[in-house]
Amino acid sequence: MLILAIESSCDETSAAVVKDGRIILSNEILSQIDIHKRYGGVVPEIASRAHIEAISPLVKTALEKAQITLEQIDAVAVTNRPGLIGALLVGVNFAKGLAYSINKPLIPVNHIMGHIAANYLVNPDLEPEFLALVISGGHTSVIGVDSYSEYKTIARTRDDAIGEAFDKVARVMGLEYPGGKEMDRLASEGNPLAYTFPFVRIKDSPYDFSFSGLKTAVINTLHNSAQKGTEIVREDVAASFTKNVTETLLDRLERILEDYPYNKLAAAGGVSANSHIRKTLEKFCKEKGIELYLPPISLCGDNAAMIGAQAFYDYRNGNIARIDLNAYATCDR
Ligand code: KG4
Ligand code: ZN
Repeated sequence: MLILAIESSCDETSAAVVKDGRIILSNEILSQIDIHKRYGGVVPEIASRAHIEAISPLVKTALEKAQITLEQIDAVAVTNRPGLIGALLVGVNFAKGLAYSINKPLIPVNHIMGHIAANYLVNPDLEPEFLALVISGGHTSVIGVDSYSEYKTIARTRDDAIGEAFDKVARVMGLEYPGGKEMDRLASEGNPLAYTFPFVRIKDSPYDFSFSGLKTAVINTLHNSAQKGTEIVREDVAASFTKNVTETLLDRLERILEDYPYNKLAAAGGVSANSHIRKTLEKFCKEKGIELYLPPISLCGDNAAMIGAQAFYDYRNGNIARIDLNAYATCDR
């Protein structure tokens, strides 16, 4: 089955052709980072406009690179939740029009499940059940994937997403948006024991995350030293911050695995590109005897191939949208 997938939930416009949920025939990604960089973050209205300009040529290129004609496509898939509402609507409306015009089914995909499905594209043997750690710029959750289309959210963040914390700390250190990748590089050169930042646990909620207190503590440290004129070693801040968030992830996973004994763990989302987190997860899973699945760096961030992968299984499960499909900023439905 050939699925043409479209992703436009944040600041990447992407179109892909995916075969049988597992094989990427093309995966075109146009990042808007250069446009948003000067504002220090994504400007939703600008993102929507940039998606409108990019989407049609990207879909055309994705088909050309896959050497597939529109007539050969079996279904159109699109991210319709969660994300920036204006950005999502661009993809959803384009996909609706396209599916209607070629008279093919339209499959709505949850972006978070898409991130998890990136693992199917590179691990032919990965099948549910497994535990998924979704760490990105907009999401931090641990999800029990019980079948391809059935899942339960076991843990979530109470405030900032982990990628948001990386990017805000990076910004105060004067790094360009999004600073996660540069923080990764700096952390490799720093001393993780140089600073002790608060290790946050939530009372009565042993699985959930909270990153806003940590973020504020790091930012206060940076501001205080600027005011006092003392030198800050950015590498040490990055390394100490990374150590803190990595240990937090392990602490929650440890607790969750005690109560939900999955024997496979899949990481997903932009922050799963972090080299320190990847290394630590590898060690953790080896010690626990758990099989670890990590998407390649190229599939950690937003892309349409992952949406095409999840769409294949959602379609098999009967999840086909009507022409009045809407987009939703949150994931409550
Ligand atoms: O999955 P993604 O592309 O978008 C969302 O769905 O949110 O994730 C983007 C996030 C940004 O916060 C970015 O700074 C972060 O992923 N990121 C990283 C790394 N590469 C990207 N964070 C830490 N280390 C990295 N190597
Ligand atoms: Zn994403």
